[in-house]
Amino acid sequence: MARILTGIQSSGRPHLGNILGAIVPGIALSKQPGNESFFFIADLHSLVSLKDGQEREKFVRAIAAAWLAFGFDYKKNVFWRQSRVQEHAELAWYLNCFTPFPMLSNATSFKEKSEKLADVNAGLFTYPVLQAADILLYNANIIPVGKDQKQHLEMTKDIASRFNLLAGEDILVLPEPQIDEKVMTIPGVDGQKMSKSYHNYIDIFLPENELKKVVKKIVSDSTPLEEPKDPESDITFKLYSLIASAAEIETMRNNYLNGGYGYGHAKQALLECILEKFAEPRRIFNYYMENNAELESILVEGETKAREIAQETIAKVRKVLGFSS
Ligand code: ADP
Ligand code: TRP
Repeated sequence: MARILTGIQSSGRPHLGNILGAIVPGIALSKQPGNESFFFIADLHSLVSLKDGQEREKFVRAIAAAWLAFGFDYKKNVFWRQSRVQEHAELAWYLNCFTPFPMLSNATSFKEKSEKLADVNAGLFTYPVLQAADILLYNANIIPVGKDQKQHLEMTKDIASRFNLLAGEDILVLPEPQIDEKVMTIPGVDGQKMSKSYHNYIDIFLPENELKKVVKKIVSDSTPLEEPKDPESDITFKLYSLIASAAEIETMRNNYLNGGYGYGHAKQALLECILEKFAEPRRIFNYYMENNAELESILVEGETKAREIAQETIAKVRKVLGFSS
């Protein structure tokens, strides 16, 4: 049986990139026979960049609601808020003491972010160690992540090996990343990678009128309406291709090639497609956003299951380190 584990930070509302790049493939993996999934909201990680507790909590709920909206089976699997299981922070401290300083200072993600951010705090620096703790607490085998997380997974294995060496036995399970090369990078409205940090994302859960405004912002070239257009280089077409059926994509491709079809038409078709294909997730998302108590009780139920496993690992780790009574 494979144990799948992944986390999404609560640093913003879930967008189409998160959904097609992480949530949908994660849920598909969780449905494969023999798999058991541990999906959590990495709210401790988001504290690195987001200090406003109320704001963060709103994002926690939105991300949780998005997992549920796309059909995550929280009864069969484990689903929780990272901050409510204190063992994450405890293990992270122990692992900090097994992490060589240069491993963190040479991390690509740290280098990139520390150049851009105004607030370069120690949490940003030790971020990969908390991530290692998230994974190692639950003896997870497979970690589905984006390409940018590959180095963090290598660090997790390295840190776990160093700990196991001291322990003289394999207390911590070495995980493997699962990086789906087929899952493309979803473009944002400006054509760059869709990301919260670039403010170029499409929030598919917005009310229709607001969603329409976002879709209208998708960048296009200035080819006049009457002229044929190149579908492959157009962002609206790319986004449409990720959601629409094969027949719908073919129709739009021909419309582009034939001319007499403007980018405005394509954007309207994309908007309608989002509303239609995601009608059910939008309904479920809104349901959970309005029924907070129910969402909360789902997370609390998951937290209890997660804590039980986390405590078993922590007990073993404390024993190895000489901290148990
Ligand atoms: P963001 O860049 O908006 O801050 P995160 O880093 O929180 O997104 O990503 C959470 C998950 O969503 C990760 O697994 C990541 O690989 C996936 N993801 C984010 N943006 C995209 C995208 N544009 N295309 C594909 N997957 C994405
Ligand atoms: N660092 C991940 C990201 O930004 C989020 C994350 C935190 C994570 N802990 C994790 C992913 C553990 C996988 C496993 O996308």
